[in-house]
Amino acid sequence: MIIVIDFGSQTTHLIGRRIKELGVEVKIVSPEEILRFTQDDKAVKGIILSGGPSSVYAKNAPTVDKKIFNFGIPILGICYGFQLTAHLLGGKVVSGKKEYGPAKLKIENCLPTEEGKLKITQSLPESFVVWMSHGDEVIKLPKGFKVVGSSDGVPFAFVEDKDKKIYGLQFHPEVEHTSFGLQILSNFVDICNSKNGSSAQEKFKIQPFGFAQDKNSKFKIKEIEDNIKKTVGESYVIGAVSGGVDSTVASVLTAKAIGKKFIPIFVDNGLMRRGTEEHVIKIFKQIGIKPVVINAVGEMLRRLNKITDSEEKRKIIGNFYIEIFEQEMKKLLTKKIPVKFLLQGTIYSDVIESQGTKHSAKIKSHHNVGGLPKYMKLKLLEPVRNFYKDEVREIGRKLGLPEEFVNKQPFPGPGYAVRIRGEVTRKRLEMEKKADEIVLYELEKAGILPNVFLSFPVMTNAYSTAVKGDGRQFGEVVAIRIVESKDIMTSTWSRMPYDILQKISSRIVNEISGVSRVVYDITTKPPATMEWE
Ligand code: XMP
Repeated sequence: MIIVIDFGSQTTHLIGRRIKELGVEVKIVSPEEILRFTQDDKAVKGIILSGGPSSVYAKNAPTVDKKIFNFGIPILGICYGFQLTAHLLGGKVVSGKKEYGPAKLKIENCLPTEEGKLKITQSLPESFVVWMSHGDEVIKLPKGFKVVGSSDGVPFAFVEDKDKKIYGLQFHPEVEHTSFGLQILSNFVDICNSKNGSSAQEKFKIQPFGFAQDKNSKFKIKEIEDNIKKTVGESYVIGAVSGGVDSTVASVLTAKAIGKKFIPIFVDNGLMRRGTEEHVIKIFKQIGIKPVVINAVGEMLRRLNKITDSEEKRKIIGNFYIEIFEQEMKKLLTKKIPVKFLLQGTIYSDVIESQGTKHSAKIKSHHNVGGLPKYMKLKLLEPVRNFYKDEVREIGRKLGLPEEFVNKQPFPGPGYAVRIRGEVTRKRLEMEKKADEIVLYELEKAGILPNVFLSFPVMTNAYSTAVKGDGRQFGEVVAIRIVESKDIMTSTWSRMPYDILQKISSRIVNEISGVSRVVYDITTKPPATMEWE
């Protein structure tokens, strides 16, 4: 088993997932718990210190007992975990050059592995792309450490104390966009395992780019369904369904587990893509269930009137949803139907970004996690809460959902409201919908849509001058965001052919009055989140 100490990184769970993909048991613990697990448990073969939002010198910065470095088992510090390792062992950390997103790592010593000796750099090329996300930097290494690799901005990006088998990485090997990230983790696992000689690399045939899939790992659909049955007992469940992959997969699992005791509800608040209602009805028809449809467009826009703060929007939309669901629950209770649970398609990235663990920072309140009011009387049922997007898609496939549906773009719970900077008026909502339809249509026509993870326009609330038919117009700037990702935690902007971008731009400025300019967003995540709000 490998223990991951969670210092609050957005990607701690992802480290755990990668280690599991390598076929090794993993446990994520808080820094306070570590000694309990390691002191006399012989099964613990290695420790990984995760990243985190803190700085080692900050007041109340999470730390760990120095004893772990004397256990004699391999230790890998990632980002904050590396800075903390350096700090505790006598190195120096400063608030350095901040780096977020891709950087080129050069390995100092790429010699082939000596017979019988495992190296952390095994099978790595001389240079490859890694993803950084840090404000602090290690500028002096503790005694015994040597540099393994560096980037232009960070001389100590990859370091090791070979004798003590302690390693440090300033970048994130666990994220999808660090090429050879899994190779580094696999090398670490092999070093941890070295006494019994098994090699993760041989077992799983690591690909140089992207992550290997553990063919043996099965999502235990039956187990998830049994859990739902056990949790729910004799009560009924109402479900918030949006037509998106997450809530649909959660619904199908629940419908399979408890049949007609599950009542899906679709709230049309006007903030979803056009055609969503018809789409929801069609999907549920396939599993023999008719969803309850509630029209709440007018009231939703009234509540959003004059609201400009994105967190406030999220809370208002979330609270309105819950109100509607509580009303529905009351109606059902008066009919003597014992509803106790509200099903939501919350997935792991929602939990993480809404501050799901002790030391993590809050990025935004995903409305189905952070926006729930305290008075809410329904209990939550969230069967896909612990899965990443690509895993939820995989479960969807196993449940027999059609491929074009399983591959559907994610759409934020608060819908277009978080793609319209500033106030959501009927007029701007209509402009956003039209622009969205143009983007989707052009991507579809070019045959690119199935490969696009997420595409959308943003009404930026910035204004610029245009000359339309010899007249001056001071109109709104629309930003187009098209990104590539698998698990949502990191993304790159899509390298779209220029002629498609041109077509999208021309159509938006020509067909939507009030728009003066179209710009393309070329920011990676991190640092920028996918959505603008
Ligand atoms: P970010 O912008 O956080 O987006 O990089 C990651 C994924 O989450 C979606 N998203 C949301 N989903 N409620 C949701 O249910 C929200 O408040 C929310 N904000 C972002 C986003 O569309 C992307 O798929």
